[in-house]
Parts: sequence; C-alpha cells; structure tokens
Amino acid sequence: METVVLKAEPQNNEAFKQATEVLRTGGLVAFPTETVYGLGGDALREDASQKIYAAKGRPSDNPLIVHIADTDSVYKLAEEVPCHAVKLMEAFWPGPLTIVFKKNAIVPATTTGGLDTVAIRMPSHPAALKLIKDSGVFIAAPSANLSGRPSPTTSEHVVQDMNGRIDMILDGGPVGIGIESTIVDVTGDRPTILRPGFISAKMIKDILGDVAIDPAIVDMESGMRPKAPGMKYTHYAPKGELTIVEGSRDKVAEEIQRLVCQKNKDGYKTAVLADTDNVALYSCDNVFDAGSKKNDITVAAGLYALLRSCDDIGAEYIFSESFEEGDMGYAIMNRLIKAAGHRIISVD
Ligand code: TXA
Ligand code: MG
Repeated sequence: METVVLKAEPQNNEAFKQATEVLRTGGLVAFPTETVYGLGGDALREDASQKIYAAKGRPSDNPLIVHIADTDSVYKLAEEVPCHAVKLMEAFWPGPLTIVFKKNAIVPATTTGGLDTVAIRMPSHPAALKLIKDSGVFIAAPSANLSGRPSPTTSEHVVQDMNGRIDMILDGGPVGIGIESTIVDVTGDRPTILRPGFISAKMIKDILGDVAIDPAIVDMESGMRPKAPGMKYTHYAPKGELTIVEGSRDKVAEEIQRLVCQKNKDGYKTAVLADTDNVALYSCDNVFDAGSKKNDITVAAGLYALLRSCDDIGAEYIFSESFEEGDMGYAIMNRLIKAAGHRIISVD
C-alpha cells in the first residue's frame, strides 16, 4: 500500500477531503493531536479497528480511544454520563484528557478490546477537530507508532513506523505536549486516573474534589494489573537497553559515566539522556540534552523524539537521569520507567 503524506494546514481543503474519503471507506489516516500523532479509523466499523490493530502490530485486547469533536457525541457513544464526567468535560475539553465511560451498544467490541467501557477524548488540535467534523466519523485512534515503540511526535516518526501500512498521513508538524493524554475512569464510585499526563491529579482534584490513582501505576513494580490494558505492556521503548540512574546530581553523573565507560570498553555504542544543566558533567559520546527539569514541559515535548534519536545513532545501551520534578514529572517518569523496562539504579 502506498502511504500518501499531505500537509494538514486548515486551508488545505484537498488534504482533508481525501482524508475524509479514506475514513468513510474504512481506511486509516494518521493525524496530529496536541499530545501525539494518532492512527485514525472509523470507531464504529469493526473492519477499521481491526486494520488499526494490524497496522500497529497491537494486541487486540488493548482498547482504542474514540476521538470526538463535540460533547453531544458522548451521549451517542456512552451508556451513562456521570456528573463527574460532565465537570471534567467542561473543564478540560477540548484538550489532553480521555474519559472512560460505560459503552453504548453502537460501539463495537473490537474498538474497546472486548471491554464494556469506551474511552473518549475531544482533542484540541485544530487539524484533529477539523478531520472529525469534516468526516462526520467518530475516530478511533491509538498513538500512530508500531506497538511498543515511542509514540510519534512528528509526521516523520509516523512515516518511520507506518509507511506502507496505512492509507494517509496528515502532516501537522511537531505536536505541542509530546506525551499521551491523561486517562480518567468515571465508571466506578471514585474517579480514577488510569494513565498520568499533562492534566495532573491536582488539576482534576481542583475540579472534582477527589481523584484516585490506579494503584498499579503508583507502584509500577507491584505486578498489579493496571485498569488501562495498554499500561501493562512494555512500551515507549527505544531499541537499545535503557537504564535510569537516580540519586543526587554528582553521584548520578559519576555512575552514568562509569557505566558508559564500561560499555564502550566492551565495544558497545552508548547514549546518555541528561538534564540541560548536567550535560557538561559528562565526557563521552552521544550525550543528549533532554531539556531542563525546571521546565518539565520541554522535557515532555522532546522525550519520545530523544528516544528515537537513540535508535537513529544505533545506541545499544542508553543511560538516563531521572526527570521527576515539576507538574509533568510524574507522567514523564511513568513513560520513562516503562521504556526502561523498570531498570532503575539508585545511587544514594
Ligand atoms: O493522547 C492520546 O491519548 C493519544 C492520542 C492519539 O489521542 N492516544 C493514545 O492512544 O495514547 P493509545 O491507544 O496509544 O493508548 C490508549 C490507552 C491504552 O493504554 C488503553 O489500554 C487505554 O488507553 N484504554 C482505551 N480504552 C480503555 C478503556 N475502555 N478502559 C481502560 N483503558 C482504556
Ligand atoms: Mg500508545
């Protein structure tokens, strides 16, 4: 299959016309959202969601998020809309928040990975909203990466993973946020965060008064089964083996430097992910500036591109500092720890 890449500028009506045609005939279009690029298909067509799983190489028990462009759509897709959900929708939509509802019968089980709930989100990216509105399709869209790889934050990343596997890519340039939406489940007694993201627990608490965090993501080592099925898979991973080293600044740099020297001596190619302020502490090849912890938004925005850069240079071992400060720190570390397959060294 040839994958067509077209610019997603709002005035490029031809691009949206073609993308609409693809979606309406059950094909797949990758498109930008404010978080990461999505791989879209008609959420109400079983054949389209099956194509999404196949293109990503994704296990079919891992449900898809349905993207909508107006709140009325929620009432068509969800069986119940609890008042917590209404408050969240008013506060954070359009934007990087996904809400899990009891699903309506029109949503096929293939889209929800066999669950009786459906995850819904209204993105704020103008190209995403235009695509949903123009096509009149509820768009099921996981991140547009091959299963297990870092999510794409540019159209080039989507091309790397999806060229020849999908019909079309709408290129809207680099995305803003860079890590996936926060997911909140409102089907139980207590609203619960299933995946951390840009919308923090504090922001949700300010609206609802209370929110729980899925215990499986608080203690990622526990082996508990996360309520968002996708959170159980190794994810976001570069091809090289990633290890996080945490502790005080100087000790971390010393330990990473030691590990790098050892690996280089054994003939392996290495990369280091360091805070802007710490880059100068290392004297080795391939030290990547991951941004400053003081500006966690830039760290999040660049994280997946950085992991892909490690692949581009063929790094076999990657050592990363920890980036847990700031409002986004929790979401960043959730992704980084998974990318590292839980390999963490503490040096304090
Ligand atoms: O920011 C985002 O959310 C991006 C953009 C494209 O919108 N999408 C995204 O989709 O990250 P994906 O498929 O890569 O991740 C969806 C996550 C998975 O962990 C999945 O298990 C979970 O959402 N999920 C989907 N439906 C669910 C449901 N009904 N109940 C619990 N978790 C659900
Ligand atoms: Mg994903």
